Amino acid sequence: MSPTSRVSGFYRMPRVERLQLVREFANLSDDEVALLADQETAAGLTAAQGDRMIENVIGIYGLPLGIATNFQINGRDYLVPMAIEEPSVVAGASFAARLVRDGGGFQAGSDAPIMVGQVQILDVADPWAARFQLLAARKEVLALANRQDPVIVRLGGGARDLEVRVIESSAVGPMLIVHLIYDVRDAMGANTINTALEAIAPLLARISGGRTRLRILSNLADRRLARARGIVPMASLAQEGFPGEDVAQGIVEAYAMAAADPYRAATHNKGIMNGVDAVTIATGNDWRAIEAGAHAYAARDGAYRSLSRWERNAAGDLVGTLEMPMAVGIVGGATKVHPVARLALKILGVRTARELAEVIVAVGLAQNLAALRALAAEGIQRGHMALHARQLAIAAGAPPEMVDDVVARMVAEKVVRLDRAQEIVKELTCRS
Ligand code: MEV
Repeated sequence: MSPTSRVSGFYRMPRVERLQLVREFANLSDDEVALLADQETAAGLTAAQGDRMIENVIGIYGLPLGIATNFQINGRDYLVPMAIEEPSVVAGASFAARLVRDGGGFQAGSDAPIMVGQVQILDVADPWAARFQLLAARKEVLALANRQDPVIVRLGGGARDLEVRVIESSAVGPMLIVHLIYDVRDAMGANTINTALEAIAPLLARISGGRTRLRILSNLADRRLARARGIVPMASLAQEGFPGEDVAQGIVEAYAMAAADPYRAATHNKGIMNGVDAVTIATGNDWRAIEAGAHAYAARDGAYRSLSRWERNAAGDLVGTLEMPMAVGIVGGATKVHPVARLALKILGVRTARELAEVIVAVGLAQNLAALRALAAEGIQRGHMALHARQLAIAAGAPPEMVDDVVARMVAEKVVRLDRAQEIVKELTCRS
């Protein structure tokens, strides 16, 4: 009989008991259980801390934390923590940051931390009249929203405006969608906004004569954009066998494909998100919110497009810009609860959520540059091949002093496979 996943009261069990249950369900070995059970601390987080963050915790899942170097943004130097499982990303960001540094570093900016919260109103007899009434009550609604979080208001944030959209026809008939426009200061803002929406919903229902359903933040944070720009001198782009001019032109041509074709745009933007997500995760921010916002924004005019733009200036140098929603915070959520997230923010030394947003967008642009440069010149596999070959050499049992030789042989032969690595290790071992 196959084991059941129907477990009642799992959340109430002590963590060790949960782990025991999973062990039996999945037939885990002692070693596999030890991987989770013995880790008092993993990834800088104790299992007990994890148990207070989410539900049904049995252990901690670790990710490598790397540091990207060379970043200069608005004249300031940053070391950037990145949490990611994929090889080449941190190296790529660091390399691209060095190229942009040659051109004076990144310029970055951001909008005020304005988020949109939505309330859905149904069963409104006359939607346009209700819209009129709601807008007339703007002051009262905003005041009620602001009473929910006096701290944020004291810090200069709070409800800023009310917008009302009429959807004349939907699957369930006409509806009103009220937008609460809210300045969340240094928070990501979801909790603050959702609390305010809950508070104003009954008032909105009363004024409109309708019935409210959803009350939730929108992740399309298109009023909270961050942008970065960087110039790479043509000469800095030159590499073996590829003059700078060719590489610069190749990057512009690669961009043109992403601007025109959603199949390429998805991959192009994925490269950007490699950098964006890694910093978002390292700093304890909600990377799913950032992903959702990024892709919705990329499709804002009805076609899914590249988030970045690459062109050449009059001198022939390469100019890149990236502008995208960036709802990240430096207070609240995991940013202060996760010890490594706290540390990552300290390493970055950012003083505001806007500064963090600007750093993240600069990293996204750097990551995009690293990928396009490799793709436009030698192709992405060459760099990846060496890294992959290194992993295979180690897996084939090469001692540390032999790894480089095994890698060099496999790369030269263009045969990067475990069986070949094993053969080379055997050969070199016999020889020595
Ligand atoms: C791989 O993680 C990311 C790339 O595919 C991005 C791109 O193609 O631009 C290399």
